[in-house]
Amino acid sequence: MLQGPDQASRVIPRHVGIIMDGNGRWARSRFMPRIWGHKRGANSVREVVKAASSSGVQVLSLFAFSDENWGRPVEEVNALMGLFDHYLSHEISELMRQNIKLRVMGNLDRLPVRTKKLLIQGCEELSSCTGMVLNLAVSYGARAEITEAVRNIAQQIREGVIDPEHVDEDLFASHLATAGLPDLDLVIRTSGEQRLSNFMLWQSSYAELHFTKVQWPDFSASDFDKAVHEFSSRQRRFGLVDQVINNLTITTDPGAGEISC
Ligand code: IPE
Ligand code: IPE
Ligand code: MG
Repeated sequence: MLQGPDQASRVIPRHVGIIMDGNGRWARSRFMPRIWGHKRGANSVREVVKAASSSGVQVLSLFAFSDENWGRPVEEVNALMGLFDHYLSHEISELMRQNIKLRVMGNLDRLPVRTKKLLIQGCEELSSCTGMVLNLAVSYGARAEITEAVRNIAQQIREGVIDPEHVDEDLFASHLATAGLPDLDLVIRTSGEQRLSNFMLWQSSYAELHFTKVQWPDFSASDFDKAVHEFSSRQRRFGLVDQVINNLTITTDPGAGEISC
């Protein structure tokens, strides 16, 4: 972890999302099968979850498997599901020890029965935890999430539960899988790619983006800390100008206002 005089005054992002990319290339460069990269990637998950939780991040969203990843060779998909099962069977007690709450978002009905069951069970077991929220995006796509929200709202309008006049950004957000969570402050993507690949498109509207060439299996607590450190030095403008931002920073509770994060 980076240490120094500015450590205490760092601005900690409330919600960090990570697109954990590069497992396959990491393995290939070592003449190993892709799945070996995924296995090693699980170690990075363990390390980064701990680092995020101890640095005071409130929500960590990890992109573990996308809607589009279903199109990969069946052997790779099956191996990934097996790794999720292994992680969920072995890590829940450690997450409990760290007081971490688990959430999951995505189309769980596409998952093998055992994986779905372990995810739901994990969420239940950790439901009384009060620390960081670990939000796993599994079988997830932002467009599908947004489409589902539109469908729900349309249904409720048809049933007369919602007045179309009352559909605003807050109501819409409350129909997303992240209902109740703050928007993303920081999105990290490993492996050198600079795209969002259908990850949390609504929630990342004003997120700071951090792209690193480090591949996910090599991504460590210190890389995470570097990303947070860099975030700390960015000026978030939210479409405003300095004078307005300075006034808002003085008058806004740092824990409550979006502008001060
Ligand atoms: C990310 O690594 C993990 C998943 C998408 C499940 P990749 O498997 O995409 O690795 P690369 O991008 O091919 O190296
Ligand atoms: C994004 O990585 C999905 C996850 C990290 C789970 P991909 O490797 O699937 O994305 P693309 O294909 O490079 O856009
Ligand atoms: Mg990839």
